[in-house]
Amino acid sequence: MLDKKVVELLNQQVNKELYSAYLYLDFSNYYYDEGLDGFGNWYKIQAQEERDHAMLFVQYLQNNGEKVVLEAIDKPAVALTSAKVVLEEGLKHEQYVTSLIHAIYDAAYSVKDFRTMQFLDWFVKEQGEEETNAEGLIKKFDLFGGDPKSLYMLDNELGARVYSAPSLVL
Ligand code: FEO
Repeated sequence: MLDKKVVELLNQQVNKELYSAYLYLDFSNYYYDEGLDGFGNWYKIQAQEERDHAMLFVQYLQNNGEKVVLEAIDKPAVALTSAKVVLEEGLKHEQYVTSLIHAIYDAAYSVKDFRTMQFLDWFVKEQGEEETNAEGLIKKFDLFGGDPKSLYMLDNELGARVYSAPSLVL
C-alpha cells in the first residue's frame, strides 16, 4: 500500500501527462498548419512521449495494487500566436511539469516511500533532458528562424526526429 497523498499525486500526474500530450498535439497541429512540418513532426513525437509517460504512471499504480482514477483532460489553454511563442510555451510547460514531479518526489520523501522515489528518479532525469531540449529549440530558432533558408533547414532537421519508446520499463 502506498501513502494516500502519494497515490493522489500519482493519479493527478496521469492526467497532467495526458494533458501534456494533448497540448503538444495542439502545438504539432499549429506547425503543420503553418507549413512547418518538421516542427509539427517534432511535437507529434513529443505528444507520443507524453502518452508514454502517462502509461508509466498508470503501470506503476497498478503494479502497486492502487486504483487508477481518470479525470477529464482540459482543453489546451495556450494561445499559439507565433512559431517562437509556441516554443517558449513548450519550455514553460516543461518547467511546470518538472515542478509537479518534484512535488510528488517531496511527498514520497516525507513518508520514506523509497520505491516511489526510485520510480520517479527516471522522471527527474527525463525532465532535465526535456527542459534542455526545449531551451535548445528556442536557441536554434533565435539563430536560424529569421532567415527562410535556414528555417527550412532547421525544419528539415526537426522532421528527421523519430519516435523511440521510453527507456524505463516497469
Ligand atoms: Fe512528461 Fe515532459 O512531461
